[in-house]
Amino acid sequence: MEIGERITSMELETGEEMQEVGLRPQTLDDYIGQQTVTDNLKVFIEAAKRRGEPLDHLLFYGPPGLGKTTLAGIIAKEMGVDIRITSGPAIERAGDLAAILTNLNENDVLFIDEIHRLNRSVEEVLYSAMEDYALDIIIGKGPSARSIRLDLSKFTLVGATTRAGSLSAPLRDRFGVVCKFEIYTVEELKQIIRRSAVILGVDIDEQSLTEIAMRSRGTPRIANRLLKRVRDFSQVKGNGTINMEITQMALDAMGVDKRGLENLDREILQVIIDRFHGGPVGIDTIAAAIGEERVTIEDVYEPYLIQTGFLYRTKQGRVVSELGYQHLGLTSLPIAQQYEDE
Ligand code: ADE
Repeated sequence: MEIGERITSMELETGEEMQEVGLRPQTLDDYIGQQTVTDNLKVFIEAAKRRGEPLDHLLFYGPPGLGKTTLAGIIAKEMGVDIRITSGPAIERAGDLAAILTNLNENDVLFIDEIHRLNRSVEEVLYSAMEDYALDIIIGKGPSARSIRLDLSKFTLVGATTRAGSLSAPLRDRFGVVCKFEIYTVEELKQIIRRSAVILGVDIDEQSLTEIAMRSRGTPRIANRLLKRVRDFSQVKGNGTINMEITQMALDAMGVDKRGLENLDREILQVIIDRFHGGPVGIDTIAAAIGEERVTIEDVYEPYLIQTGFLYRTKQGRVVSELGYQHLGLTSLPIAQQYEDE
């Protein structure tokens, strides 16, 4: 991670992927949280295995960092098949997708992250692949052009997206199961951090576990990242074990506040308060005011601000709540109170 980069960014940073792999659970029993999703998947996996068929295509949606790739890996393992991991933007042409699909073995899992970013021509090839396990390929040009059908091995597509709404309807309809990933509770994050600390071989006390969990914005990826940085502080400034003193020192030094908010989160709340009387204000106006893209605010920042109750999404626009004002050490104007009453 570059100095100055957000510690609570939910995207994977360069070089971090390998480190994250070591902390990833390998079985459904080790996977913490997303109970509804995993309970259902256990049934579907068992049924598919008994029939000797691939699992139905799955669509995972929810904010980044909640373990979608991890769960896809576990599914492949539980099914006893291989997984091929790629992403929407990485598949540029229909031929790239054809190459991937023709290399899959029977019942394999194909994981496409950011599937809403597939381009149209690639997406159209995917339709027949998902539905009939076949590729329709056009050979030649003009009057002599003809179409040939290439059979594929049966496979399971696991698509991941930060928002199900931005998927085209024909693609969305081809998924047999749609799973919504929820932000994790503090209790769940504590379990994840406890498990990661054991894998990393570092001692951590109960209070520090809670503190890191509360500042992780409901996201395992952030929890594991914070744990590693606190471990650094414990090794350099302490005696190698993680206690509250070290935890507070590390988290304060990283600018992560009591609820896990960073500068940009606070800036969003502050801008709505300072320039728009606490709201309601449209998302595009907020995006322009802070110089971020609308989708980044919607997908990355907003879910946690809404979950904490600092921000409301109303028909008229975004409104900072009484709690949001309090978090910034301010007193709310009557406008925020009026929206809370609705
Ligand atoms: N590491 C990242 N996500 C996890 C999860 N859901 N359960 C256990 N460990 C994890």
